[in-house]
Amino acid sequence: MLVQVIGPAGFRGAVVGAVTASGGSSTWPLILGPAPVDSPDVHTEIPLPPEEMRALVGVIDPALFDNPSGANVVPDLGELTSGAVLDFGSGCGRLARQFLQQIPQPSRYAGVDLHAGMIRWCNENLAPLAPQFSFVHHDVYNAGFNPSATAAMLPLPFDNDAFDAVVAHSVFTHVVEEAALHYLSECARVLKDDGGMLATWFLFDKRPFPMLQAFQNALYINSKDPSNAVIFDRAWLRAAAAEAGLAVVGATPPSVRGFHWTIGFAPLAAGREEIVLPEDDAPFGSIPPPVLSVPAYTIGA
Ligand SMILES: C[S@@+](CC[C@H](N)C(=O)[O-])C[C@H]1O[C@@H](n2cnc3c(N)ncnc32)[C@H](O)[C@@H]1O
Repeated sequence: MLVQVIGPAGFRGAVVGAVTASGGSSTWPLILGPAPVDSPDVHTEIPLPPEEMRALVGVIDPALFDNPSGANVVPDLGELTSGAVLDFGSGCGRLARQFLQQIPQPSRYAGVDLHAGMIRWCNENLAPLAPQFSFVHHDVYNAGFNPSATAAMLPLPFDNDAFDAVVAHSVFTHVVEEAALHYLSECARVLKDDGGMLATWFLFDKRPFPMLQAFQNALYINSKDPSNAVIFDRAWLRAAAAEAGLAVVGATPPSVRGFHWTIGFAPLAAGREEIVLPEDDAPFGSIPPPVLSVPAYTIGA
């Protein structure tokens, strides 16, 4: 299903190429990238992460890790995806695997994730396939994925202006408000002035909730692990982006009401026109997060 994009030139066409919001754990994060091929048995020489690892990122179907046509993995970022690409919250390499097949490959690809087992798997199985691909463990606390870490947030381990494109798919949907501010700012810092960023978000409208303080702009669905799913105020998102040095230049509303928005950002320095977020009038549906049978941090350890 293609969804409408509201935005000026530069944030082009539909962001979400393959939206499979039919529910169930294999489709939990909506899929950014080329449409999956119809055949369930896609063949490539590139190793596929084990199923228990794919379950960790909520995408089990192998076709959703593949890009057999070599298409641009993030068409809305245009040619930026053949430059230096940061995949913030890279998981078990779903997008990395697609970028390995993209023609041309990115000139540089860096994946960053707080889950040690998934980063290890990517370093052992994907990094050897292309010298410009690297994966870095970002050792920050997450109740399920990295419970032994002590830091709540850390700088991203890259120089200023290092990347043409930043992709954060289904990541800002799992960070608390303070961390979202920090990582928006870090993404802006490492992004070149003529670069672009795409990130998915859960959004709500804070205005009907008068009990919320000015500094309370996120809703959390899980009292034991707030990162399970985090829903941000839509007005806050624009203000937070501006504080980080980013303008909101594109948006794809969810295909199921309240689910993933895909938001396009550009550095404020680029002087791009900001957009007004459209209403979310998608049909209602149910897409709960997957429930795992073993502790997440033990997978791939
Ligand atoms: C739902 S998964 C999506 C993975 C990948 N982006 C994809 O689309 O397949 C969310 C990922 O974000 C990572 N993550 C969440 N917060 C993070 C943070 N502060 N720093 C680095 N990674 C983070 C998690 O470890 C997890 O792998």
